[in-house]
Amino acid sequence: MKKAFSVLVALMLVLGCFSFSSAEAKTYKVGVSIYQFTDNFMTLYRNEIEAYFKSLETEDVKFEITMADGKNDMAEQTNQIQNFITQGMDVIILNLVQTSSADAVIDQIVAAGIPLVLINREPLAYDADGNTLDEAYEGILNNAQVCYVGADARQSGTFQGEMVAELENHGDINGDGKISYIMIEGDPENIDAQYRTEFSVKALVDAGYEVECLDDQVGNWDQTKGQELCANALTAYGDKIEVVFCNNDAMALGAATAIQTAGRVVGEDIYLLGVDALEEAVQLVKDGEMTGTVLNDHIGQSHAAVDVAIKLLKGEEIDNYYWVDYVKVNKEYVDAQ
Ligand code: BGC
Repeated sequence: MKKAFSVLVALMLVLGCFSFSSAEAKTYKVGVSIYQFTDNFMTLYRNEIEAYFKSLETEDVKFEITMADGKNDMAEQTNQIQNFITQGMDVIILNLVQTSSADAVIDQIVAAGIPLVLINREPLAYDADGNTLDEAYEGILNNAQVCYVGADARQSGTFQGEMVAELENHGDINGDGKISYIMIEGDPENIDAQYRTEFSVKALVDAGYEVECLDDQVGNWDQTKGQELCANALTAYGDKIEVVFCNNDAMALGAATAIQTAGRVVGEDIYLLGVDALEEAVQLVKDGEMTGTVLNDHIGQSHAAVDVAIKLLKGEEIDNYYWVDYVKVNKEYVDAQ
């Protein structure tokens, strides 16, 4: 009887011990909203967010990730955020559809006491007249539990321009003393599109080259649109076009198809530049069918976003801004890899 009693006590202790250890295990609820699932670059980015969170799980710490598709619709994304708040997310990672809605969104999330990591689309500071300022955004600076993780798009634009300047003929194929280019832009509200458009050309001008813009159109980051715009420009301007600048690789992949269809040859009678270093684009650079791209480090950015989200979950202090460098990807770079 005595033995049976001690076995029971031992059993209770073991069970008690088990239930204690499972009570220790904590599942954090993470809400992630991406501006649009069909975006090539953001697909790599979101997959890496998920994979990296999973790789950091331990027996005691789990992450329950809810990924939402903003479908490039701010109203849809606002609904998702409201759902995240109702569901009691422990942290939110947000790739805004519209950076002009940043204030409203940040206010709601902060009021609900949920920490927030903004990614990829940097909200901008504005003056009283609505002009963009080259300053950090107050909605981020004034909130200890809000931060932005991204890459400085000025650098990617500058790298695109430098890769042209570094060519033997500096992009002036016909030798008329000026670099004649077309620009295919991403979503014009997006600072990445604005800066890449400005700084690619600025790098050439700063290096002392004359430039001529033949065409500047909005392709909204989209491959099909990039192809269509480049094909139209090739029809309209023919071999006057020496350089095709695309704000991202998806549009550059489209432009590469248009260039081939028009019977033009990259590296011989035209140059083509993108940004992101998507696998397909890097392959084209290797094969000489693209002049260059710029690595938009989705691994570095997604890891930085997850790392800071975890700091916030632990209640640690964070910075308001985290920057990840771009890298120039031209033929020399890929051959050296
Ligand atoms: C990338 C684009 C992408 C955009 C989405 C940019 O940083 O270069 O490929 O479409 O982010 O916001």
